[in-house]
Amino acid sequence: MKIPFGTISITKQSRSLIDTILDSGRVSNGKYVREFEQRFAKLTETTEAVALSSGTDADALALAVLHDFGASRDDEVIVPALSFVATGNAVLQAGFKPVFVDVERDTLNIDPTQIEKVISKKTRAIMPVHLMGKPAKMDEIMKIAQKHKLVVVEDAAEAHGAVYKGKNIGTIGDMAAYSLYLAHIITTIEGGIVTTNNEEFAEILRSLRCHGRACKCKVCVVNTNSGNCKKRFEHGRDIRFVFERVGYSCKMNEIEAAVGIGSLDMYKEIINKRRYNLLTMIERFGKFSEYIATIHEEKQEKIGPHAFPMIVQEKAPFSRDQLTNYLDKNGIDTRDLFVSMPTQCPGFNFLGHTLGEFPIAEYIGNNGLHIGVHQDLSDEHIDYFIDTVEKFLELHVN
Ligand SMILES: Cc1ncc(COP(=O)(O)O)c(C=O)c1O
Repeated sequence: MKIPFGTISITKQSRSLIDTILDSGRVSNGKYVREFEQRFAKLTETTEAVALSSGTDADALALAVLHDFGASRDDEVIVPALSFVATGNAVLQAGFKPVFVDVERDTLNIDPTQIEKVISKKTRAIMPVHLMGKPAKMDEIMKIAQKHKLVVVEDAAEAHGAVYKGKNIGTIGDMAAYSLYLAHIITTIEGGIVTTNNEEFAEILRSLRCHGRACKCKVCVVNTNSGNCKKRFEHGRDIRFVFERVGYSCKMNEIEAAVGIGSLDMYKEIINKRRYNLLTMIERFGKFSEYIATIHEEKQEKIGPHAFPMIVQEKAPFSRDQLTNYLDKNGIDTRDLFVSMPTQCPGFNFLGHTLGEFPIAEYIGNNGLHIGVHQDLSDEHIDYFIDTVEKFLELHVN
């Protein structure tokens, strides 16, 4: 039996939409991207959604909005030490310095009790990550942000469908950034999206994704990114070539949006199946907790069913790599549970951190792994996974 890490469901409607789009010749950012954005905003219960080329762009552009509000290029953004490397890269791409905080071992997320220690005059934002769809402690984070007047950008790349104290993840901070990459619950193959309830942020995001182009013709106040100013020559300048801020080039195209629209059509079905898979795996994994831990769903939350994480415990008489090799050899596709960005990721060496500064993130970096919980996995796959781990433990624990 094989348990692949991810899957993709492309609906019949998406396929026929792709044909229509190709026949029309209008394939770059247009009406289907706008439809996808509107439906994504509705689903997450936000008023605005801006679709982009990737989740990394979503993180970076959400932060880059802060330059319109006086942030300087050497200001700081607080992020958890443990995440997919894109979180740290995005901070640097937006022109800020990432300041790292260790994570909690049981939630995998930023430890709020350590945030205030690293706040400085240069801190502009906190970017918590809801790793593996498990909500970060948003009450504590928002309280600190309000006290220090910081913006909160939720990295919700892995948290589609997650809920924290009755609120959808992604609606608690000022903006939320999602990945729409293949392994994610809503996918456009490659893609990302920022949601917000702030219309001004959304306007700036639309400008940023399009080279920093002016949001509106100043004379007739037509939005240049969703319909050109028809009188642009009368108004003296071709508005399409007025660039008001340092921009990026990361628009979503119509074909990606068509895949995303199909993904939204299937959302309920996909999320229910994935939540069933995740919660079943969590429950059945309980018996292994002495040697291999996982996350748990608490009363006040719903985990967004992104993947199933595992952490090999100190007392286990085997290593993460032995477990990974055994699972891989038996057809179960695994991924490491990321690394401590500042101390286990060579790309961040220039920031000058040393191993040992982020002990929990580093422990997970050395001992964590995750597997898929996607909609194509059945009860038989879950049985097979649990049996395979059981056999592995029989071989290694006497
Ligand atoms: C936590 C986190 N942030 C950001 C990203 C970046 O998303 P993308 O791969 O779409 O650029 C990912 C990717 O999966 C992620 O897991």
